[in-house]
Amino acid sequence: MGAGIAQVAARAGFTVVMRDVAEEFLARGLKAIDKSLQREVDKQRLTPDAKEAIISRITTSTDNAGLRNAFIVVEAATEDLAVKIEIFTLLDKIIAMDAILASNTSSISITRLGAVTQRAERVIGMHFMNPVPVMKLVEIIRGAATSDRTLAEVRSLTERLGKIPLECQDSPGFVSNRVLMPMINEAIFALYEGVASRESIDGIMKLGMNHPMGPLALADFIGLDVCLAIMNVLHDGFGDSKYRPCPLLKRYVDAGWLGKKSGRGFYEY
Ligand code: 3HC
Repeated sequence: MGAGIAQVAARAGFTVVMRDVAEEFLARGLKAIDKSLQREVDKQRLTPDAKEAIISRITTSTDNAGLRNAFIVVEAATEDLAVKIEIFTLLDKIIAMDAILASNTSSISITRLGAVTQRAERVIGMHFMNPVPVMKLVEIIRGAATSDRTLAEVRSLTERLGKIPLECQDSPGFVSNRVLMPMINEAIFALYEGVASRESIDGIMKLGMNHPMGPLALADFIGLDVCLAIMNVLHDGFGDSKYRPCPLLKRYVDAGWLGKKSGRGFYEY
């Protein structure tokens, strides 16, 4: 998702530093950006020169030096609290005192991330949706200490990116995943219990509810490891058994069948 966020920011005219832990991930991100922009060139919505100009605004780095002058850093690391705490603690010491530290977390508490920094009022959630270049929403999550100023700046930035900001309070899964993930988990339970085939479950939701993708295909698209991590956050956060992850979801993740990115999930790719 980091590449998608870098793409929309560069497309909106911002200079972007894309930072990751290894060159191979950065190369993969740049390839995804190139492919996504090429679709638009092919449809004559973007000229080849404009595409190159967008790409030229993105630099890549495997260290933090390039982030020192950023007015905002949007973290989009794996959905793991310990990893995010480490990143926030480190970035807080490196980036400008007044810079905003945003997280693209899909469910982790913004308040907890803010608390490990000396700038909790400048910490906020910017939850982009997949595929980032296509989806209009950015769910904006306000932590306990997030200031009105930070909220206003991030709302305005989101609009400059061509997206629509919608706000919510810091609560497990926010709004998007509190509503979406139990639906996906329930679809997995239906498959697990033999209620219907994967095609039937997805077809019923696509044709009957006008969803663009069935819930099992969507789970594969999001990543089954991400779905499981979010269900665990909901389960722990609310302490309610209605959020227990389906055993079939756990089994697939244990098997390394993580969906589209690993070549196999509920479908084969
Ligand atoms: N980059 C740029 N453009 C893309 C793209 C990408 N990665 N993927 C698709 N598109 C564009 C296509 O070019 C096409 O553009 P056009 O209509 O202007 O010509 C348009 O999107 C539709 O694409 P396709 O015709 O190839 O395929 P579909 O009509 O099946 O759409 C989809 C693909 C947009 C992914 C659609 O199936 C969809 O909306 N699926 C649901 C996505 C969703 O629910 N996302 C949220 C996931 S939850 C999340 O991200 C939160 C996290 O915390 C879990």
